[in-house]
Formats: sequence, structure tokens, C-alpha cells
Amino acid sequence: EREREREMGFTEKQEALVKESWEVMKQNIPDQHSLRFFTLILEMAPAVKNMFPFLKDSDEIPQNNPKLKNHARIVFKMTCDSAIQLREKGQVVLPAVLLKHLGSAHLKKGVVDSHFEVVKKALLGTIKEAVGESWSDEMGGAWGEAYDQLAATIKTQMEEEA
Ligand code: HEM
Repeated sequence: EREREREMGFTEKQEALVKESWEVMKQNIPDQHSLRFFTLILEMAPAVKNMFPFLKDSDEIPQNNPKLKNHARIVFKMTCDSAIQLREKGQVVLPAVLLKHLGSAHLKKGVVDSHFEVVKKALLGTIKEAVGESWSDEMGGAWGEAYDQLAATIKTQMEEEA
């Protein structure tokens, strides 16, 4: 089954699993999931705190910071959009200006491969808790694949800017 899915690329089923769970989650991203997402990130990689200006000087994760909410929302939303692109075009394509901006912003902050892994785990952990009984390994695999491809696109750009 796994082998066949690989050959087929990103499947319609995988796209549907990502889109459905995103629909369930998205209205609660600002007040709930964004905080959980950052909590999981900092549990795994406490030093990440110093990368975000809005986390650096506070002992707790701020409950009402628009920038925190925004980074969380963007990571989720861009991963969901990547799933759709993988299904439609077989690859993640970002507008050149955005890609350049993403590359330089993360390079400047000192983001490295292991951070992308941490964020992936936090993303999947947040989704798993958010969707409850709807969760399946297949759903996690679909989000994970879309995230990996998005992260690879950003990392390639970071290498070019370095
Ligand atoms: C900033 C997206 C992964 C840390 C940003 C920005 C976007 C973004 C759109 C805003 C850039 C700006 O306008 O300044 C993403 C996406 C990711 C991802 C789509 C993964 C697929 C990561 C990872 C880390 C990270 C793995 C490190 C743990 C940061 C930091 C900033 C930033 C520190 C600057 C925030 C600030 O100065 O307010 N990211 N990011 N990001 N990102 Fe990410």
C-alpha cells in the first residue's frame, strides 16, 4: 500500500485528509492551537525562544501576541496549500518574492534543519490533539509529507542565500 502511494505521488485521499482537518482546526488556530504549537516547539527546543522577538523577554508564552499567532497560522496554512499543490502539480511552487523572503528571514534568524524537524513534530502533535478521534496515521503522513516538501523548498532557498 505504502509503495503504491509513493508511486502515485500525493494522492487525492491525502489531500482530502489535510483539507478536512484544516477546516476543522482553522477557526481555533488563533486562540488555541497557535499557543499549543509554540508550547510543543519550546518543550522540544527551548533555545528557539530566543529566535522570536516576542518570546525572548517573557517567561511565558504570550497569550495574545499577533505575531505568534501569525507564524503558527502561516505554517499551518502554507502546509495545507502545499498539500493541494502536491496533488495538483506534484510539487510545491512558491512565488519567487515570497520564497526569497522566507529564505532570508529564516537564515537571518539562524534556523537550521533540526528546527524544521521540531516544528514538524509540533505541527503533527497539535493536529493530532485538535482533531481528536478523526486522527489517523494516514492523516499524519499526509500533513508530514506536505510539510517536508514545503520545508525542503525553503531550505533550498536558504542554501542559495547563504
Ligand atoms: C518568520 C513561515 C519554519 C522561525 C517567518 C515568516 C514566515 C514564516 C512567513 C515571516 C517572515 C517575515 O515577514 O518576517 C514559515 C514556514 C515554515 C517556517 C512556512 C515551515 C514550513 C520555521 C522554523 C523556525 C522558524 C522551523 C525555527 C524554529 C521563524 C522566526 C521568524 C520567522 C524566528 C521571525 C519572526 C519575527 O521576527 O517576528 N516564518 N516558517 N520558522 N520564522 Fe518561520
